[in-house]
Amino acid sequence: MIKVRVIHGPNLNLLSAREPQIYGSTSLAEIDERIKAHAEAIGVQAEISQFNSEGEIVNAIHEARSWADAIVINPGAYTHYSVAIRDAVAAVDLPTVEVHLSNIYAREEFRRTSVIAPVCAGQISGFGGASYLLGIEAAKHLVEERTEE
Ligand code: DQA
Repeated sequence: MIKVRVIHGPNLNLLSAREPQIYGSTSLAEIDERIKAHAEAIGVQAEISQFNSEGEIVNAIHEARSWADAIVINPGAYTHYSVAIRDAVAAVDLPTVEVHLSNIYAREEFRRTSVIAPVCAGQISGFGGASYLLGIEAAKHLVEERTEE
């Protein structure tokens, strides 16, 4: 079974209460249930965590090296400035998909830059909780493509 590390960044624990006009009214627990169910249905095992601090995210990326086949990450606000998370993604050399609930290109200017995207295989942005489901599909595709090589 393909193993995917799913990482939610800061403030995503507040989903449903946090700016619902932007992020929707679905809680993180509900999104996690959907991720698990969708992953299982397509033969993927998803290990999901949420972290509010940069160091914890860096540690989780390093730790994934020993067992995961791919990473799906929503770095939250760190997307826009964390060179440490970017370097961690580049260092572990696991196929990585960046996901966002909102369309970061349709919002404030400062959100339109991702320092993480250049070291990811690709980015999915703007589909609400479904961004994660698409992210799992993309991760599976990347792992299968690597295996075929
Ligand atoms: C986000 C977009 C970021 O700009 C923001 O800081 C977040 C959530 C998203 O999923 O749309 O925390 O990553």
